[in-house]
Amino acid sequence: MPLQIKFMSVDEEADGGIVGEPCLSLSNSPDMSLLSTVDPFADILTATHIHRSRHGCGAYPYDKGSMLGVLAAAIDARRIVEVGTALGYTSLWLSYGAQHAHIDTIEFDSDHVRIARQHFIGHKVADRIHVHHGEAVTVLDGLDNNAYDLAFFDGFEPTRQLVNGLDRRLRIGGILVCANLTLGRTDPVLIDSAAWLVHSFGETAIAVKR
Ligand SMILES: C[S@@+](CC[C@H](N)C(=O)[O-])C[C@H]1O[C@@H](n2cnc3c(N)ncnc32)[C@H](O)[C@@H]1O
Repeated sequence: MPLQIKFMSVDEEADGGIVGEPCLSLSNSPDMSLLSTVDPFADILTATHIHRSRHGCGAYPYDKGSMLGVLAAAIDARRIVEVGTALGYTSLWLSYGAQHAHIDTIEFDSDHVRIARQHFIGHKVADRIHVHHGEAVTVLDGLDNNAYDLAFFDGFEPTRQLVNGLDRRLRIGGILVCANLTLGRTDPVLIDSAAWLVHSFGETAIAVKR
């Protein structure tokens, strides 16, 4: 049976932010219903694509938001740090998965910071997601060491300096999800099996801090 894609209405706000009900539903046939997926943040996904085409920026939403939600839920993450907020799509998935978590997310583009904050208010999670406006290396320096359960990198190229910054924030046993590994060079810190237990999907790696 063919994949069915249903679009429902989306209200666009004046400044490029969009808040609304889940609007994308993917389903196969009725007998495949266990594989059906609804993205509760499809409104933000749509807003991000529209924003990027107008702004000409690098706000490419991560395509495995649900994986982040599942991981965050599975480890019952209480503290999460993210580099690369954009308009908030992945922060929202992380907060959805880990419903008791506080999330520190870092973004250096002031337009993205402003719109992401609106989206967090719209989705009623602004009290749990703190958007830090600044360069990730600098902001990470001000966060607690060995304190976070989950770190997600989705800035541009994952440099050694940025990955080391996230490493220092994670507790032993914490999980690093690093995207964009095919941008630029692969950072050898991620494949150091003495420091990490790693699974790679190619563009993304998931690593547990030993
Ligand atoms: C690929 S987008 C993030 C997409 C977002 N995670 C999502 O799924 O919607 C990368 C974002 O990281 C920001 N960014 C890139 N490098 C950064 C850095 N070094 N410090 C802070 N923000 C950065 C960019 O401005 C952009 O908004």
